[in-house]
Amino acid sequence: MHYEPIVRRIGILLLASTVASSSACKQDGELDCRADGVDCTLAEAAVQAGVLVGTAYNEFRDDPEYIPALINDFNSVTHEGAMKWAATQPERGVFDFERADRMMELAESNGMSVRGHTLVWEQASLDATPDYVLDITDPEELRALMADHIRTVVGRYRGRIDAWDVVNEPLETAGSEIYENHFYQVLGPGYIAEAFALAREADPNATLFLNEVLVSSAGARFDALFELTKDLLEQGVPVHGVGFQGHFLTKPPIYDELRANLERIAALGVVVELTEVDIILHGTGDEATRLERQRQDYFDMASACLAVEACERMTLWGFTDRYTWIDSFFGAGFAPLPLDDDYARKPAYFGLRDGLLNGSGSNKTTAPTR
Ligand code: XIL
Repeated sequence: MHYEPIVRRIGILLLASTVASSSACKQDGELDCRADGVDCTLAEAAVQAGVLVGTAYNEFRDDPEYIPALINDFNSVTHEGAMKWAATQPERGVFDFERADRMMELAESNGMSVRGHTLVWEQASLDATPDYVLDITDPEELRALMADHIRTVVGRYRGRIDAWDVVNEPLETAGSEIYENHFYQVLGPGYIAEAFALAREADPNATLFLNEVLVSSAGARFDALFELTKDLLEQGVPVHGVGFQGHFLTKPPIYDELRANLERIAALGVVVELTEVDIILHGTGDEATRLERQRQDYFDMASACLAVEACERMTLWGFTDRYTWIDSFFGAGFAPLPLDDDYARKPAYFGLRDGLLNGSGSNKTTAPTR
């Protein structure tokens, strides 16, 4: 085990309480989000639950409402793009940390945790890796470049980023095989182990994650992630955590399956996190019915994480429907996030908050209360 979960939970509580302390609902050091009439933020509810609640961050510097809304509800943050390879090393040997640094300043001045996303990832449809990397076919050359990239990026934020997605999406997006991406083809299947060893060396205290999409349901795809994690751990690879992205685009979270998957992976001795949650409006019916359904979905998602001791953080992939990658990649109107276009709280917000509060520390299936 990389570290003692209980000790970490206490650390999370102390850290998160600095965020909560500015709130009107905390008085004389007492915070009880379950008390009648108390209107806690998501961050305050997360403190109560002993987890972190995070969001993807992006730069909307012309929008004066964006940062205050983010700070109000979250105690953890992940850059949606600026720590990816194409952003940090846009040209070979030329690093650019301006955008990433700006988020670090925001996080550090507000006492927020940071997830680093991501070091090694090939996903052609999302331009994850620059062409100059994909053009290299000599193993020693690619190995040296990958080493330099990981050392430079992780090293820059050593001690300041608590978790890194070292390898993102190691499985094929459709199917349940290991993705034979460019790194795999040139370096062999050991590329994953090599990347983790490099990250470990660059920041020995960071929690190092494998991060995968579409693994929240039971089935062959989740099994493949489980086997991969198990193999890596048996080889002594420093994998400390497994991230479930949680883009619930095709179907909503099935509470029991998600919880069982989190538990199964955690039983290998790693922490687990939901790392990129967005839950589109599912189902049929009028808008109110679908929003209500979405509230239940957010409740179920949070409950699944809280039911598993090793599930320490849930990060949403954005927080306001004003800005969601779903709009640009899948079309408008899916409204996947807990605040609406005008930053007003949707039913999903209350579902998430109730899930944080009612699901805390035990395997609850209580329905949302408001
Ligand atoms: C997406 C971002 O949200 C977009 O803004 C960007 O253009 C493409 O990438 N899985 C991941 C994330 O791990 O990095 C992706 O983020 C969404 C899918």
